Amino acid sequence: MASKIKTVFFCTECGYESAKWSGQCPSCREWNTMKEHSVSDRAVKTGRIQKALAEASKPLLLKEIPLGDEDRLASGIAEFDRVLGGGTVPGSLILVGGDPGIGKSTLLLQVCRMFSEKGINVLYVSGEESPKQIKMRAERLGEFSSSLKLLCETDLQSVSEVVKEEKPAVCVVDSIQTMFNDEIQGTPGSVSQVRESTAVLLKLAKTLNCAIFIVGHVTKEGTVAGPRMLEHMVDTVLYFEGDRHASYRVLRGVKNRFGSTNEIGVFEMEGSGLKEVPNPSEYLLEGRPQNASGTVTSCTIEGTRPILLEIQALVCRTAFGIPRRQSSGADLNRINLLMAVLEKRLGLHLGECDAYVNIAGGMRIVEPAVDLAIAMAVVSSFLNAPAGDKLIAIGEIGLSGEVRSVSRIEQRVSEAANMGYEICVIPAVCMSRFKNKKSFNGLKLVPVESVKDAMELIKRN
Ligand code: TYD
Ligand code: MG
Repeated sequence: MASKIKTVFFCTECGYESAKWSGQCPSCREWNTMKEHSVSDRAVKTGRIQKALAEASKPLLLKEIPLGDEDRLASGIAEFDRVLGGGTVPGSLILVGGDPGIGKSTLLLQVCRMFSEKGINVLYVSGEESPKQIKMRAERLGEFSSSLKLLCETDLQSVSEVVKEEKPAVCVVDSIQTMFNDEIQGTPGSVSQVRESTAVLLKLAKTLNCAIFIVGHVTKEGTVAGPRMLEHMVDTVLYFEGDRHASYRVLRGVKNRFGSTNEIGVFEMEGSGLKEVPNPSEYLLEGRPQNASGTVTSCTIEGTRPILLEIQALVCRTAFGIPRRQSSGADLNRINLLMAVLEKRLGLHLGECDAYVNIAGGMRIVEPAVDLAIAMAVVSSFLNAPAGDKLIAIGEIGLSGEVRSVSRIEQRVSEAANMGYEICVIPAVCMSRFKNKKSFNGLKLVPVESVKDAMELIKRN
């Protein structure tokens, strides 16, 4: 039966669908994001997510739904399983997004290898690379079990036929932007193709109870169908981040219907694939300069884990009228605010200085708990006086220069003690959590009420 061609408009940001064009997306309120796409009416009827789920849509009694212990598949790569909430849930659709070349294919091939070694039926579908290229990558990663199946295909109909036939427990589709469905108008990677392909995969995952990982490249401009508009269709969204030129990679959960979203997995890219980094603090603090000014350690909490990191600042007189402020890894507005607080409350003439702040190791932090360490690093560089190698600072700074309490201070302090630090500067209001004792596991606790108190410590050193 010949199908009619319909025109629909999709928002490239959130995936909102509308029959009419509008300048502003009614859903996410972004401007100029509604793009026209032609879809055959058959595809419109069959491709909908609602339709995909319709087969399972009979009401059930909540208390009668069985839940087994064996519900999650653990790959054995602890950093990966933790981000997923303890393992992969069968029948879930997981989007793995990230910049091109960051290591998504490598990560998923390694995950597939671990699954297949455990006797789980795995299918790796690649629309990007030839079997030879994948084999070459696999050679670098080490021994592969004989049961891992590979399919190099971009036609989604063929892919879904193979999946129905093979019935794998885990399937990887690398990448969604290369998948093509000839029922739908548009080139591979266009909004309608990506959306409808995802809907087909969603149906497959739910009907066959197969966990499907979809790889999606994030496009800088966000104009081409990026994985962002797929976020609401899938069960779990993971982002693989890191500096392409550094070896440090972070797998971050952004959405998870089956677990917490604030967990991270830390990896290092080596010549033979990705290696887990079970102790990120040690890795991040490696090669710290000794007895240098402008460097202070702090502790941030990522998910459930405390991670120590080094904050570096370089403050020098500006050669131009307007001072330069630059930051890598921390929020620039926050740094400007902290410098204004230091200028006003301590009377330091930072207004005449350029300032560069860097979080060593390529981490990104948004937590205000590192405020005190940033401020101390700035002052230490300004005064050219080291703050001390065995010192760690934790605390949020308020506009009046007061040092405010931070969450989970005990966890942060004990991580610092484990890593061999000797002095820990903490907000005075947090002392009650340590029963006002002056030390904790051999770590000397120094309570401070304001930035002024903290800066005295630098001068004394
Ligand atoms: P890849 O997984 O192809 O990235 P993506 O799928 O996200 O586009 O990873 C590509 C980069 O990783 C490439 O620059 C080479 C590097 N790499 C290593 O450093 N070591 C390795 O063992 C492998 C397989 C890749
Ligand atoms: Mg790839």
